[in-house]
Amino acid sequence: MYLTTAIDYANGSPHLGHAYEKVLADALARVQRLKGEAVYWVTGLDEHGQKVQQAALAAGVAPQAHCDGIAAGFQALCGALDISHDDYIRTTEPRHKAVVAEILQVLYDDGLIYKAEYTGFYSVRNEQFVQPKDRLEDGTWPESYGEVVSLTEQNYFFALSRFQDWLIAELKARPDWIFPAFRRSQVLEFLKEPLNDLCISRPITRLSWGIPLPFDNEYVTYVWFDALINYISVLGYPSGPLFAQHWDSAVHVIGKDILVPPHAVYWPIMLHALKLPLPKQLIVHGWWLVRGEKMSKSTGLRVDPMELVAAYGSDAFRYYVLREMVLGQDGDFSQESFDQRYKSDLGNDLGNLVSRLLHMIATYCGGVIPAPTLREAPEMALEAFFKQTIKEIPAAYARLELHKAIEETFSLVRAINRYAEERAPWKLSKDPHAQAALNTTLATMAEGLRLAAVLLLPVLTQAAPRILTLLGQAPSAPWSAEALQWSRSCLTGAKVGEKPILFPRK
Ligand code: ME8
Ligand code: MG
Repeated sequence: MYLTTAIDYANGSPHLGHAYEKVLADALARVQRLKGEAVYWVTGLDEHGQKVQQAALAAGVAPQAHCDGIAAGFQALCGALDISHDDYIRTTEPRHKAVVAEILQVLYDDGLIYKAEYTGFYSVRNEQFVQPKDRLEDGTWPESYGEVVSLTEQNYFFALSRFQDWLIAELKARPDWIFPAFRRSQVLEFLKEPLNDLCISRPITRLSWGIPLPFDNEYVTYVWFDALINYISVLGYPSGPLFAQHWDSAVHVIGKDILVPPHAVYWPIMLHALKLPLPKQLIVHGWWLVRGEKMSKSTGLRVDPMELVAAYGSDAFRYYVLREMVLGQDGDFSQESFDQRYKSDLGNDLGNLVSRLLHMIATYCGGVIPAPTLREAPEMALEAFFKQTIKEIPAAYARLELHKAIEETFSLVRAINRYAEERAPWKLSKDPHAQAALNTTLATMAEGLRLAAVLLLPVLTQAAPRILTLLGQAPSAPWSAEALQWSRSCLTGAKVGEKPILFPRK
């Protein structure tokens, strides 16, 4: 699998939505690796265009210096979230700019990019064309546009419209191309109207912060045309070995606001015009909202992922966003639900189990996992529950139901806790005739915990390896049939670590 996220605009610092997208893709990448399948996973930064030029101007710095600062912030976020990407592409890098120029030239030579005159309404204040549909009911323009004039401009256009019928046929032939499936109808709906050719240039008199057109240095490239190409420039298109190796298996993770038209219309047509195959799949997530509203800098509705990670750790953040969001739908962030998940799922269900178990093994068994000698009704019930549930977890990941996969995994954790309540090893320890039951209980709990930790590896990238290490095991284990098999005695004799506090109380 070749896995990508959107590349973030360098016009502001990251918020919860950006962090979610990276964690989501990272968890999918880790599942792939655990299943023993190769994955190449990249993310990056979208640095050109009007918005970035304006943000730099507002900050009083040169655009490149501005972008360097933003890039450092996004890369620090990736580090803080334990993102395991293989490469990070910035659209101001020479390796990207060269590919964009080459593609523009090829399409121009093929007659798919042409020059034409465009007349439209132009907001002088915002330095951009506006649409007639943006007018207010009384026919005037919104205050924020300032003076709006009619402007005629020469520009370059990409012949999108020639490929409209082809694209509709492709979409109809690929029911699974977009996840979730209902989004495909939105694209088909959009394609019921005739497509306009795409204006892919901006005169440098209006916008200087962009990639110059190789055939006309009076213009720079429209930012979306530039940005989409990152998915192949990062692989060294056209001749790089990574491109040859990975492009066939591309999966793009994006938010719902950039499906139509960029990823579902411009990008497939650009690829087809270049005689390249389409990506295998688009995974489209919804938005994180705060009290029902989209996060935005202007309204101050903005959750800073770095603050949450600093306060609770990366595991807590990853767990919350993946467990709380149903992939494809919108989700609502609240500090209350975050605290609740932290305290009850991570702290009580998992954290307490680990420290309680390690404490008992240390006190009753000298820190060595004992052999389970009994196999009675409580053990058989727990084992049966595990056998059934474990099968469902990789399957839920494969169906992209991450919240469900995680919920199932925690149902295993809770089952271990219920088993412990039933067996009550703290009572057994006081009964000299109950040594076999005590040993069996601790060994059984340890084996359940081992399996739960292996299944939590894509999500809790800190705690899951730590739990395995504390149980005397390697910090990771593949999701092979063998490793995911309930084994009564594979832990027997293992020396456990000191009891940790994995998720301290806040
Ligand atoms: O769109 N909840 O960049 P971007 C969830 N540069 N996801 C959100 C979100 C929210 N509240 N807000 C934004 C761009 N996102 C372009 C992409 S790709 C060739 C170029 C997601 O910084 C958004 O949906 O505005 C997108 O997938 C990503 O964050 C970057 O958004
Ligand atoms: Mg955006």
